[in-house]
Amino acid sequence: MANTKGIILAGGKGTRLYPLTSTFSKQLQPIYDKPMIYYPLSTLMLAGIRDVLIISTPEDVPNFEKLLGSGEQWGINISYIVQQFPGGLPQAFILGEEFIENQQVCLILGDNLFYGKLDFLRNGLKNNDGGTIFAYQVDNPNSYGVVEFDKNHSVISIEEKPDLPKSNYAIPGLYIFDNNVSAISKELKPSKRGEIEITDLHKAYLNQEKLRVEMIGRGVAWLDTGTPEAMLEASNFIHLIEKRQGTKISCPEEIALQQHFISMEKYLEIVNNLPNCDYKNYCLKIVKEYQ
Ligand code: G1P
Repeated sequence: MANTKGIILAGGKGTRLYPLTSTFSKQLQPIYDKPMIYYPLSTLMLAGIRDVLIISTPEDVPNFEKLLGSGEQWGINISYIVQQFPGGLPQAFILGEEFIENQQVCLILGDNLFYGKLDFLRNGLKNNDGGTIFAYQVDNPNSYGVVEFDKNHSVISIEEKPDLPKSNYAIPGLYIFDNNVSAISKELKPSKRGEIEITDLHKAYLNQEKLRVEMIGRGVAWLDTGTPEAMLEASNFIHLIEKRQGTKISCPEEIALQQHFISMEKYLEIVNNLPNCDYKNYCLKIVKEYQ
C-alpha cells in the first residue's frame, strides 16, 4: 500500500447547529462521550494513516491544537492549516498541497462517523488508481452526493444533492485521491454558490476514467452528524454499543496501542496523566487485553 496522508476538514460555520456553534466549531461538539473529531481521526488511524492535517477556521485551529496537540502522544503527526473562508471541499487539497507531497491522500469530513469493519477503506487505499469514492445505501440520497454505477461497479454518473436521485447510493465524506489532486482542484471553476465542488473533482477523475467506487456493505454504520438531531442519534448509537459491550468506540489511546503506534510503556504514561474519569478508567481496564 502506498503511504497515505490524511486530511480532516473541520471548517465551516456550522450554522445548522446554531446556537451550539456560536462559541466553538461543530467538530468539537460532543458525540456522546467524545468530541466529534475523535471519530474521523480514529477512522484514519485504524486505516494505518499516521500523518494527519487538520483544516479549520482561524478561530478554531487553536482549539483543535489544544485538544489534539502534535499527535505525538498517540504516535502520529498532526499538523494544522487555517482555512480563511469556506471555499468548498476541494480547497482542502489546495491548502494541503505541500502536506500531500507525492503521496496519495485520504480526506475525511470532520462530521462523518464510521462504525464497523473498515475493510472497505483499506481496500480503497490499496486499490486506488486516481480517485476512489465510497457508496453507501441510504433512504434519503437527495441529501448527499449520489453515485450511479453499473453491475460491474463502474461509475456512470455523480450528482450533488439531486432532486431526482438516480440511485440510493450516497457518497460519504471520505475520499481517496492520488497526488494530482491539488493540481486538478486548482483548475475547478466555482459553482453558483461560489465554491469549488467535490462532485466536480469526481467528474474530472471520471472523465479520465480514473474514478473507482468501493461499496460499503450493510455491516457498517455511516452517520453524518451535522444537525442537532443527527448528533443526538449518533450519540445514542455510540452510547448503546459502548454500554452493551463495555468498550469505547474511537478512543485514540486504545487505537494507538492496538495499531502499535505507541508502546505499552508510553500508553501507561499518557493514560496515567489523564484526569480521573470514566475515560481513564476504561483506558486502564483494557490494558490486560493488550499484554
Ligand atoms: C458533503 C458533500 C456530499 C457528501 C456529504 C457527506 O455535503 O458535498 O457530496 O455526500 O458531504 O457528508 P454536506 O454535508 O457538506 O452538505
